[in-house]
Amino acid sequence: MGRTFSRPGAPGSGSLGLELGGGAGSLAAVERPLVYLDHAATTPLRPEAFEAMRPWLTERAGNPSGGHSAARAARAAIEEAREVVATCLGAAPGEVVFTSGGTEADNLAVTGVLARRGGSAVCSAVEHHAVLHAVERSGGCTVTVDAAGVVDLDALAATLDGGVSLVSVMLANNEVGTVQPLDAVAGVVRRAAPGAVLHTDAVQAVAWVDVAAAAAPADLVAVSAHKFGGPQGAGALVVREGVELEPMLVGGGQERERRSGTQNVAGIVGMAAALEATVAQRPVVEPRVRALRDRLVDGLAAAVPGCVESGRRDTKVASIAHVLVDGVESEALLVLLDEAGLCASAASSCASGALEPSHVLAAMGVPRALAAGSLRLSLGWPSTDGDVDRAIDIVADAVRRLRAGGAAIDLPAAGARG
Ligand SMILES: Cc1ncc(COP(=O)(O)O)c(C=O)c1O
Repeated sequence: MGRTFSRPGAPGSGSLGLELGGGAGSLAAVERPLVYLDHAATTPLRPEAFEAMRPWLTERAGNPSGGHSAARAARAAIEEAREVVATCLGAAPGEVVFTSGGTEADNLAVTGVLARRGGSAVCSAVEHHAVLHAVERSGGCTVTVDAAGVVDLDALAATLDGGVSLVSVMLANNEVGTVQPLDAVAGVVRRAAPGAVLHTDAVQAVAWVDVAAAAAPADLVAVSAHKFGGPQGAGALVVREGVELEPMLVGGGQERERRSGTQNVAGIVGMAAALEATVAQRPVVEPRVRALRDRLVDGLAAAVPGCVESGRRDTKVASIAHVLVDGVESEALLVLLDEAGLCASAASSCASGALEPSHVLAAMGVPRALAAGSLRLSLGWPSTDGDVDRAIDIVADAVRRLRAGGAAIDLPAAGARG
């Protein structure tokens, strides 16, 4: 258990139901539906994905590496999924390596390239820990970003030399939503370290950005199904033809020796169906969600004194509303939001009793005191106007209560962050 915060009276009673956006994403509804605005952590399974997966979770079985008809059918299903995933990501089918998710894809990219080629790794200071920790573990270094979280191209150029074999710069940031100028990054890498491989973590971008175009300059591209309406536990790394890496998992030699282990047939099939639907619906969903996000951030700024948007909106993906609330501890705020039925997250973690500011906000130069009041509300394909209205009311009320002071809040132990 963590520390204790001052807590005002509990909000109105009523058991919580779970209803995501009230539409196709509804899981159950009891008395008071949840407002789910944590889609960057995970977003509900799309119906297209569920339908595609159903046979592979029920009557169908088959190890894709086997020789009989059921195994051949499973193999055919994952090869069909591979083609869909490849098309959606602007890759050739043979370049798609299925993994257990984004973390494994990022780890395989960084660790696999370094193990094969030697040399060192460089990444932006705002990477997800799946990249950051892999780079740091290898002794690599990070590159600074500006106040919007955009990587500093001059600093990147200054860091690169012939000894660098891997550069990793994410497409969209998971905390504040900043989209990186990958074309420009690739230009710097090609000039300053022509032998280096460029990896991009596109996990948070897939639902909102045309990754086939935006990640085209990258040699390695990581994606994760559960961020775009596929199941948890499925992902992929695009490994462009000619890019060599050492497998992390060895054994049966699946995925053309790049990732051993029996493939997750249902997961892969569901990921492909979700990705196809995401790409097809993005022209409609992206502007709708962007308008909701803008209304949410503007509504929070108007309703909550001392609430400002982090970074620069014009550099962000459509889905992420990230704000800094002056004089409020986000851990305490999240407890009140949770009690009121709003699922959100913060870009900070409680380690050993000390509030650790987010490495992303620190890199953007956000003062520690302000970073302590960070709040991420992330929207997804099922999000509605009603979610936005209720979220503004709930956050405004919770901040008012916290500022007014009151009884104690027992903070839950911190978990890993998405
Ligand atoms: C940018 C980014 N990269 C990687 C990951 C890890 O993906 P997974 O949860 O599939 O392991 C996440 C998850 O939050 C993420 O946001």
